[in-house]
Amino acid sequence: MEVDKKDEREPESSEQVVNPWEVSAKDGGKIDYDKLIDQFGCQRLDESLIDRVQRLTSRQPHVFLRRGVFFAHRDFNEILDAYERGDKFYLYTGRGPSSEALHLGHLIPFMFTKYLQEAFKVPLVIQLTDDEKCMWKNLTVDESQRLARENAKDIIACGFDITKTFIFSDFDYVGGSFYKNMVKVAKCVTLNKAMGIFGFSGEDHIGKLSFPPVQAVPSFPSSFPHLFPGKDNLRCLIPCAIDQDPYFRMTRDVAPRLGYSKPALIESSFFPALQGENGKMSASDPNSAIYVTDTAKDIKNKINRYAFSGGQDSIEKHRELGANLEVDISVKYLGFFLEDDTELEHIKKEYGEGRMLTGDVKKRLTEVLTEMVERHRRARAAVTDEMVDAFMAVRPLPNMFE
Ligand code: TRP
Repeated sequence: MEVDKKDEREPESSEQVVNPWEVSAKDGGKIDYDKLIDQFGCQRLDESLIDRVQRLTSRQPHVFLRRGVFFAHRDFNEILDAYERGDKFYLYTGRGPSSEALHLGHLIPFMFTKYLQEAFKVPLVIQLTDDEKCMWKNLTVDESQRLARENAKDIIACGFDITKTFIFSDFDYVGGSFYKNMVKVAKCVTLNKAMGIFGFSGEDHIGKLSFPPVQAVPSFPSSFPHLFPGKDNLRCLIPCAIDQDPYFRMTRDVAPRLGYSKPALIESSFFPALQGENGKMSASDPNSAIYVTDTAKDIKNKINRYAFSGGQDSIEKHRELGANLEVDISVKYLGFFLEDDTELEHIKKEYGEGRMLTGDVKKRLTEVLTEMVERHRRARAAVTDEMVDAFMAVRPLPNMFE
């Protein structure tokens, strides 16, 4: 007998959802990253690739590689094959300027991209999607553009090399060769396909439908004739959080039809909220994240009050059982930002076996983050409007591969 299939299926809300607008785990648990790799069809970034990065760049791979923050990729091995033969590539990343203050999670792709730029000595384009945020959030054109420039200062403060970096706002830069590529991409994607990839529905305004080509075409060197004239075969590597994958699945799908190479990707997991890995950092709850504008006191208070602890309820029990490192947010955060591998291992061992207490770990995390945020604040304060203009000027970069 044919039963009602609908009742047999689990309701959609219990499945994990990861797309550029929504990240939610199954039944409020943790994101299953292995399953995501299967669902998306990307590849796991394994030890052998990290070893290759070390050999090719003659330096220790970034913490985010060593500790698996960037955990998935598409064709990164091909980028390394080409690099080994002496063929360079360029980097492309971006930010949707939806808010004034960035939190630590926002900095991760930029910290990592800066490392890649330095280690491989390659040029970089950074897209500020002010148009995207104007269409998705309740922001005016002017306000989105203002936020784009403010965010550019935080991005510049991460230390990018101005002789190798072009930052652009969509509202300013879209046109010419970039726009021609957008139209070519748009012609290759049916409405059905866009609804499938991005989950658009009939209720969405048509601005949203028109956006994916904007984020797609910085993957093609011909979108930047002032940077890559005659270099139509230059490959592109995109560092991003894995929620951006749908844009680049679409891009990689259409690239061969336009005679372009597919961009390669190197993708990160998400930075957890203070409240724990099944919580989400939310713009509406300032206590769910640490912002680059937080004072030393804010940082200390947030960590002490909100950082989810894997320690036991009583000291006696803690000494006996040790902390559950799997759920402990202070340990997780140290894994992102404490450079010293030996110290991190020491903390995990001592805390995991109950000799260190949550308070000790929180104290160390507070030091690490205060120093990092302080450094960022100083660097950002030194970024002038002239420097923003200089990074955003449409200009050739004569020494970008040196
Ligand atoms: N859509 C991204 C965001 O909302 C911004 C972005 C544009 C991006 N191009 C990118 C992010 C390339 C990573 C890589 O933040």
